[in-house]
Amino acid sequence: MPKFKFTIITLFEDALKPYLNTSMMWKAQDKGIVEFEFVNLRDFGLGPHKSVDDTPYGGGDGMLLRCEPVFAAIESVKAVDPSAEVILPTPAGELWTQEKVRSFAAQPKHYIILCPHYEGYDERILTIVDHKISLGHYVLTGGELPALIIVDSITRLLPGVLGGETSAEIESFSDGNNIEYPQYTKPADFRGMQVPEVLLSGHHGKVAKWREEHTRKV
Ligand code: ADE
Repeated sequence: MPKFKFTIITLFEDALKPYLNTSMMWKAQDKGIVEFEFVNLRDFGLGPHKSVDDTPYGGGDGMLLRCEPVFAAIESVKAVDPSAEVILPTPAGELWTQEKVRSFAAQPKHYIILCPHYEGYDERILTIVDHKISLGHYVLTGGELPALIIVDSITRLLPGVLGGETSAEIESFSDGNNIEYPQYTKPADFRGMQVPEVLLSGHHGKVAKWREEHTRKV
């Protein structure tokens, strides 16, 4: 199966690498299921200071990402793989839900995630974007945290990434509106808080019934 690839265009790749090189994200790379690549937007900056932003026409606070470095960075990736699709994390995007995660995870693809920073971006950047994704109704300082969440939520669904064959399937939100049943591990008694008897019984039928009855809906 051709593997998944995420190319992350950012000014702050050092903020992303520790997470992506840890635990499941590391394992997914190590097993060859996913590949992460970083493109430093600064390399495409303008002038001696490699500038990537400027003030808004019409006035106003803050700086906006300029078109030239962003287009050049994306085009450098697309020159190698024209099939790559561009994701822009933005609070103005479509809400990222588990249903969307599943549809993104269903097809091996190369996604370019552009991490905006500063107060925003030149509107013309949207012409080179395929997917605008919002992580929720709040505003973050940049696209790095959304990029990590998008990558993590897709990668954990790829075959071979999680331990148990079915763990991604049965887990929270797997059918779109369930969250999982309560789970316990050792010890059976912790400070007087007991694990439900049925879970200790070894009776698979009863355990399944209990879990079904205790699946918490949202
Ligand atoms: N960038 C800043 N805030 C964001 C959000 N809530 N979702 C996606 N990208 C963002």
